[in-house]
Amino acid sequence: MAQSSQESIIGWPVRIVAVAFVLIGIIFLYFFITFDDETVEVPETLASTTYLDVVDSLLANADSTNGPQLLVQFACTTCHETVVAPLFEGLGERAGERRPPLTAAAYIYESIVSPSAYVVDGYVDVMPRNFRQRMTDKQLGDLIAYLLEL
Ligand code: HEC
Repeated sequence: MAQSSQESIIGWPVRIVAVAFVLIGIIFLYFFITFDDETVEVPETLASTTYLDVVDSLLANADSTNGPQLLVQFACTTCHETVVAPLFEGLGERAGERRPPLTAAAYIYESIVSPSAYVVDGYVDVMPRNFRQRMTDKQLGDLIAYLLEL
């Protein structure tokens, strides 16, 4: 009798620690699983109009002259001026052919907000996934407008 009540006293801290571990595990798993949710969702089937409602409104008042400064501010150049990532030169011309039927503007938008949706041949899927959260609509619009002109 005495022994079993002692066991249950010892048992409680152990149970509390066990529950705490499980809770920490669940929280960790939650953040691990939701990490990818930072990217904008990619539709299963693409059309020539995909993303355009968003992209058109981003481009409506865009000022492409802010582009070069934004590329430096968001450190795009650390990868895109080296062998890590494709150079931006000529992007405006090839963007329309990268992922048909996406338009050039829609492709550039997707490349920034959901980089893993399409990985350019010969490169690794290392581009940060959280630019949509880090940029204002204005900054994103200005960047797309600038990249389209290249
Ligand atoms: C850590 C490195 C890294 C950073 C920082 C980075 N990118 Fe990228 N980016 C890549 C890589 C690698 C690819 C090619 C693989 C892919 O398609 O995801 C790529 C692809 C792209 C493409 C498609 C290019 C093409 O030729 O089709 C665009 C557009 C782009 N990035 C824009 C940006 C912009 C804008 C920024 C800054 C806001 C940025 N990237 C920051 C690594 C990076």
